[in-house]
Amino acid sequence: MTNTTQDNQKVGAQLPPAAKYRPFPTISLKDRTWPDNQITQAPIWCSVDLRDGNQALAIPMSVTEKLEMFALLCEIGFKQIEIGFPSASQIEFDFCRRLIEENRIPDDVSVQVLVQCREELIRRTFEALDGAKQAIVHIYNSTNPAQRRIVFGMSREQIKGIAENGARLVRELADAHPETRWTMEYSPESFVLTELDFSLEVCEAVAAIWKPTPDNKIILNLPTTVESSTPNIHADQIEWFCRNLTNRENAIISLHTHNDRGTGVATTELALLAGAERVEGTLFGNGERTGNLDIVTVALNMFSQGIDSELDFSDLPRVREIYERTTRMDVHSRHPYAGDLTFTAFSGSHQDAINKGFAAQKEDTFWEVPYLPIDPKDVGRDYEKIVRYNSQSGKGGAAFILEQFYGFDLPKAMRIEFGKIMNTFADSEGREIAFQEIYDLFENKYLNSTSPFALESFRASEREQGVKIAARIRKIAAEHSEGEGVDLVGNGNGPIDAFVAALRTAGINGFTFKSYKEHSLESGAGAQAASYIEIERDGNTFWGAGVDASIERASIKALLSAINRSVAKN
Ligand code: KIV
Ligand code: ZN
Repeated sequence: MTNTTQDNQKVGAQLPPAAKYRPFPTISLKDRTWPDNQITQAPIWCSVDLRDGNQALAIPMSVTEKLEMFALLCEIGFKQIEIGFPSASQIEFDFCRRLIEENRIPDDVSVQVLVQCREELIRRTFEALDGAKQAIVHIYNSTNPAQRRIVFGMSREQIKGIAENGARLVRELADAHPETRWTMEYSPESFVLTELDFSLEVCEAVAAIWKPTPDNKIILNLPTTVESSTPNIHADQIEWFCRNLTNRENAIISLHTHNDRGTGVATTELALLAGAERVEGTLFGNGERTGNLDIVTVALNMFSQGIDSELDFSDLPRVREIYERTTRMDVHSRHPYAGDLTFTAFSGSHQDAINKGFAAQKEDTFWEVPYLPIDPKDVGRDYEKIVRYNSQSGKGGAAFILEQFYGFDLPKAMRIEFGKIMNTFADSEGREIAFQEIYDLFENKYLNSTSPFALESFRASEREQGVKIAARIRKIAAEHSEGEGVDLVGNGNGPIDAFVAALRTAGINGFTFKSYKEHSLESGAGAQAASYIEIERDGNTFWGAGVDASIERASIKALLSAINRSVAKN
């Protein structure tokens, strides 16, 4: 037989703190089938943002905010929305009336209301629902041993009696208002902490009164009111319940998962494998204590497995904006799918892999970009923010940003040199570095490295044997000085070779030309070329870079940039 209760035992004061707690009992279900199952379709979703979510706010939503949230939930695609506890306060009652009287409930949406199994509250709830086309009346009472003993001082029979009395009155009032299509829901509160056989007994007693059919099923909502075990145990509880319920075909098994252990999402997913068909939860996991199940995450997890979740989160930033404004809660930067940093890579190697993944990704194949579980565009996020730079980004990070956002494809060895420059800068700043700052540093160190030698003019002419160049450079001997113009003439195999020869003739030497790379710059006005040159001086290598409309001039500028950097040793 299954056992979910734990005996109360005295804990000695001398015991270490952890001894105050005990493991959650396992369920004896050796032939469980859920581990082999797969989620293949969306469950029936029910948002409890306007009840569980709203109840848990320091400043509950105003009626205007609730109306905005209700409209958002309808837009997302929820067909069942719990709107609160109309018998609990005038505001809740009035909100329910406004939705009905102002015709704000779409025809395919059912509002759901929660009420305790108390006569006056149930009657008031039906008053609030007067005129609704369709509605779900949700009654509940606590069934677990600790509440029975500590809070109510009642036997199992008495607790079952509460549920039966509530169910009878709901049946009676529903029958008296046939103009509304009624669905009935019962929750044995703290189901997870209740003996399974007792939960089943109470649920079946309620069902016997409501007389559900396959066309008008009872919703049996089995909450983890306080999440207390690992998700596999909850899955066992659900599988056990589904197997043992009489007339299973007349019931929808619903989950209502809280997140006290931080595993609300996993608990829901495994319980769906175990046979549940309906999920109650909130946007971004808002709710009492650590919150309710985060429906956004479960739905997008399904989406990431190629399953239509039937909820539309294609503009997640807008959903988040309305949620944050109306609840005054924040979505954490690392929240799955919705956080500011969720699709961001600071690490250089991750940036590099993402870059390669984007380049390899084809439109008509499955998504396969490393480190990005889904395409950020599918939830309304953009690619720009995917890459961020700080001192942790590694040497590849800055070069990646220069390439992705400014079009400079630095040679491998130069990436290392520039990476060191960037790391020193990021370390000294101790903060995130903006892309523009990375470009500015590159420009400053390489493209604008024009002292002591800056190019003023350059002309190359083809000769029978090689190339002849005529150039003029400005030589700035001292800081802030105007410098002096130096005319150069030289011959060589190509323009760079001829220019190096001309420099030597003018006494500018002491370096060796090592390597060279050039490419066109795609962005920016007019076609531009970028050139990178590596030289060696006194056993050290230095890179230079130049940009110009002429590829030859770009190379000459790159050479002078490298020479200048070698002179300054930076
Ligand atoms: O968490 C819970 O048990 C509830 C019930 C009222 C369904 O919210
Ligand atoms: Zn709850």
